[in-house]
Amino acid sequence: MLVDTMPFRAAPTALTLFAASLALACGGGSDSGTNAADSAATGDAGSTRTTNGSGANNGGPATSSAGPGGTQTGSSGGLTGGASVSYAADVAPIFEERCTNCHHSEVTAIPNIADPFDPSNGLIMFPNTWHEGHPETPEMNVVPGDPANSFLVTKISEPTPAAGAAMPWSPDRVTAEEAADLREWVMLGAMNDTFFQSNIRRIFGTPGALGAPGGKCTYCHYPAGVAPDLSDPFDPANGVVNVAATTEGWIRVVPGDPDRSLLIVRVEATETTDAGDPMPKVYPRLTADEVEAVTQWILEGARDN
Ligand code: HEC
Ligand code: HEC
Repeated sequence: MLVDTMPFRAAPTALTLFAASLALACGGGSDSGTNAADSAATGDAGSTRTTNGSGANNGGPATSSAGPGGTQTGSSGGLTGGASVSYAADVAPIFEERCTNCHHSEVTAIPNIADPFDPSNGLIMFPNTWHEGHPETPEMNVVPGDPANSFLVTKISEPTPAAGAAMPWSPDRVTAEEAADLREWVMLGAMNDTFFQSNIRRIFGTPGALGAPGGKCTYCHYPAGVAPDLSDPFDPANGVVNVAATTEGWIRVVPGDPDRSLLIVRVEATETTDAGDPMPKVYPRLTADEVEAVTQWILEGARDN
């Protein structure tokens, strides 16, 4: 179980204050304990981690591979074979495929991996929000030239990082009870009623929020994210109710008919079928080569090349 308080803000209102509050958010571990640290922060813990808080992993990236010496700062000098990594060709596609659905500019206080070079909340020299409570973890997410002091490398290479979950993270599957509630909501006409407000909204989640308020879907299905926008399921264009699916031949939600509603089919599925992948989607861990590419990119100075 993840017992740490999550040092993140769930309130969307914190967005605009983001830059200013970051230092506080990171430092003030205690106040962050109040909202985000509640259940789902811990709920998060369920699926992907077996956190045992092992301090043994501390600090250095486990990537035995690249073997970057902690003190090596030269941009590319020390590399065997003078391998050179391109951000655009080698690294960005990995981030895009596995990270940026959750780590985008609209999420509060987690690095915007969609634009790692964004000076306000990109990856480069973005303070590791876990560092305060876990001083054994690196202070920064990415220190150009220094993978050993870049928390990002810990997160993608260690199965159980000393703080938080291994990345890419995935929300838990919906529980049997949640699946039943979704089905009933559709049966009852998929309306924006009290049943929706009290049972369904929390499953979909609030975009930009982490932990419990983030639910299980809006991490990826937010207004500017992957369609449908599950923060507004009733939107006639990008919502689900009576909206044609991207997946051919399907309607996302057919009021009164759960079996013909792609959303229900996806949520109840346990494997990929003609109707697509089960939801919530799970992104696989990075391969050793991918971890190596990211590590190498940092070693070479985390350039926008
Ligand atoms: C399904 C959503 C999701 C995906 C996909 C995802 N993350 Fe995360 N990420 C989170 C959440 C939630 C947190 C906060 C909890 C934690 O640190 O474990 C987080 C935290 C982090 C942090 C810690 C930042 C800090 O300062 O505390 C890093 C680094 C990170 N993610 C990197 C990545 C990378 C790299 C990928 C892709 C390989 C990725 N994440 C994919 C949801 C996601
Ligand atoms: C980690 C990211 C992620 C999470 C979390 C996630 N999804 Fe998805 N979802 C996707 C992606 C990417 C697609 C588009 C590719 C596809 O159709 O599989 C998608 C597609 C869908 C579709 C098909 C849309 C269409 O028009 O064809 C539905 C329905 C759906 N998701 C529902 C959900 C629900 C409900 C949840 C929460 C229980 C959820 N998703 C959680 C990434 C995610």
